Amino acid sequence: MTQKSGASDVRPVPMLDFAREFAEIRAEVLAAIEAVCTSQRFILGPEVLHFEQAAAAACKVSFAVGCASGTDALWLAMAAMDIGPGDTVVTTPFSFFATVSSILRVGATPLLADIDPRTFNLSPDSVQSVLKAKTPIKGRTSALMPVHLYGQCADMDALGTIAAEHDLHIIEDAAQAFGARWNCRPAGALGDAAAFSFYPTKNLSAYGDAGMMTTRDAKTDERARMLRAHGMRQRYYHDEVGWNSRLDTIQAAVLTVKLGRVEAGNVRRRELAERYNTKFAEAGLAAPDTSTGVVLPYTDTRAEHVFHQYVLRVPRRDALRAYLTEHKIGSEIYYPLPLHLQRSLLSLGYRKGDFPVSERAAEEVLALPIYPELRDEELESVVEVIRRFYA
Ligand SMILES: Cc1ncc(COP(=O)(O)O)c(C=O)c1O
Repeated sequence: MTQKSGASDVRPVPMLDFAREFAEIRAEVLAAIEAVCTSQRFILGPEVLHFEQAAAAACKVSFAVGCASGTDALWLAMAAMDIGPGDTVVTTPFSFFATVSSILRVGATPLLADIDPRTFNLSPDSVQSVLKAKTPIKGRTSALMPVHLYGQCADMDALGTIAAEHDLHIIEDAAQAFGARWNCRPAGALGDAAAFSFYPTKNLSAYGDAGMMTTRDAKTDERARMLRAHGMRQRYYHDEVGWNSRLDTIQAAVLTVKLGRVEAGNVRRRELAERYNTKFAEAGLAAPDTSTGVVLPYTDTRAEHVFHQYVLRVPRRDALRAYLTEHKIGSEIYYPLPLHLQRSLLSLGYRKGDFPVSERAAEEVLALPIYPELRDEELESVVEVIRRFYA
């Protein structure tokens, strides 16, 4: 009997496998959690400050404020910088929902600009046109929020110039980019404030929800610390209406263990991305556009990509994904529907066709398994199944 597509010689590859990392760090991480349990200092215990200081040093910034999630970190950054009602924040429609929802949460208005087709990051040209155009959205434009999507920094040279010309703050959405660099400077230190997510799938991840805001500005740090703890400077005296978004002490302990490994993990991710590129080229699949093959990730020469995700543009994306699933190869689509077309955001007034580069990306992108523990043979299986699909 002939085997359907000869699948028996390729191995299943999960999109993610946290258990592999846990097996490596089990003793260390359980000891760190046990230490918190022994101390019983679950709320803002010493591990939180310890992690904040270590993470600030890694990001080459003076201050890091741990909080409950990446979403809250974005919110905290804006609130601490007084961005709110009457302000607009320019950002990308090709990101996770929190990028835009956090702007709405502080009462500001998102002003969307399209992306660069190669990097999938906010396009400086598009930002310029949006700033020049007479938009129907009222309010002063007070900030740019570039997202370092998939682990590659946005063009911070050009965006920095635009911000300086228009007197705008820059808030980096660095949720996917811990350890990434732009011109040798780390994500988190490239604007006025930045937000990181430590959601379990991130390249630096907690064992639950967690996040962090970074800044070089002492006032922003102080205000964010106050806002994440109900607006209190002194216990039970509430200077502002903050909220509860403290970084959990157990998460800080886990993150401290993982922080020591993140750089090596990023190096391995880059190595895997290189290997994918080589294998796709050897299989004759790599092409300049999707009419002739798969388009490999593009890395700007000024960027040090951390490949939080390895993302291709592919022809017949949904059929390929179904084929991969059938062969037990994990994949994911980040993101299938741009933010301006999300039902909850239709009131912003955008329509299909407003951001054609983002809309096309949403139809073509496919993320493949990439994590430090991914084995070379597994990567080869992924490429082989894709080769068979297009054969
Ligand atoms: C680009 C981006 N922004 C913001 C967030 C929000 O982070 P969190 O899930 O920790 O709230 C995420 C995480 O999914 C993200 O990928």
